[in-house]
Amino acid sequence: MSTASHPVTILGTGSSVPARVVTNEELSRTVDTSHEWIYSRTGITERRIAGTDESASEMGARAGRAAIEAAGLAPSEIDAVIACTMTPDMPFPSTACLIQQKLGLPTRTAFDLQAACSGFVYGLEVASALIQAGVHRHVLLVGTERISSIIDWTDRSTCVLFGDGAGAVVLGRGVAHDQGVIGVKTGADGSDAKLLFMPGGGSSVPASAESIAARQHFLRMNGREVFKHAVLVMEEIALDLLREHGVLRGEIDLVIPHQANFRIIDTLASRLEIPYSKFFVNLDRYGNTSAASIPLAIDEAVKAERLRPGQLVLLLAFGAGLTWGAALLRWPGNK
Ligand code: UT7
Repeated sequence: MSTASHPVTILGTGSSVPARVVTNEELSRTVDTSHEWIYSRTGITERRIAGTDESASEMGARAGRAAIEAAGLAPSEIDAVIACTMTPDMPFPSTACLIQQKLGLPTRTAFDLQAACSGFVYGLEVASALIQAGVHRHVLLVGTERISSIIDWTDRSTCVLFGDGAGAVVLGRGVAHDQGVIGVKTGADGSDAKLLFMPGGGSSVPASAESIAARQHFLRMNGREVFKHAVLVMEEIALDLLREHGVLRGEIDLVIPHQANFRIIDTLASRLEIPYSKFFVNLDRYGNTSAASIPLAIDEAVKAERLRPGQLVLLLAFGAGLTWGAALLRWPGNK
């Protein structure tokens, strides 16, 4: 292991979403809701829902393959794979091991990271530290979720919000510390764990006829409270990160926030005094894809040329735990 701190950058991005589109109109035929309610309260018009062959590892592998190709690397050059997910294919082995096998990656480090919707920013912090310390040279960081598998499709307060998908980046050594990944900051507060959680399926409530009858294997959320916390902690961590790196909010070219609700993003934009037009939003087409939301948005922003070389980018995440995080990136390449 080298003792120098290596700069870290993003070498390539990729994403993959299921083919099946489910519109608000389609949902309104099975639960007591409407396109008007969903769109006006969240900004979502449709989401992707995985088919039987679209597991979290499968979508993650497709996104990962695209990111490795975009990085111009061979699979044999990937030293580690981190899969950020709260909907792994199964409790064990890790989804990262399954992705490693599907992509034919070297038999080195592979593990899952669970920080719910903040997973990708947490993963960025861990992967960056591994590269900075010289432990690994190239890390494949994947955010992949098949949230449809833990949704109670009879609960209108949650089933309209989420969707499936995956996004990935390859991280490697950069040229300078003020380029690529400039800084990452994360936070957590377990005292609000029950604002957003899935009670069953873990070791405290293993699957039983009773737990299934009590619908404990589905996601539960106190949406209104989560909304309030999301805005407050993302504002705070964003300002802390900018202060630490001596960056003024006016210098930010693009904000890629967790895609949960346009009203959260709009409130955040006002509080941070960064124009809403600088926020990349694709939740209208995917809903909330949890740990996949930010890397999926990054890949779309690159492809749409909203995210361009030289731009200063702020990532903002929030999720169950509660967890949250922010990252500051100078997108690689010359202006
Ligand atoms: O990714 C992790 C983080 N998650 C989030 O960031 C989600 C944060 N929270 C939110 O985005 C919003 O709180 C929601 C979109 C979940 C809900 O919006 P809201 O404006 O906070 O609505 P509410 O929960 O206060 O519900 C308002 C009304 C209720 O009816 P009453 O009690 O006022 O008669 C609900 O029963 O809307 C009703 N309602 C619905 N009506 C039609 C809730 N869901 C639906 C629905 N269709 N799907």
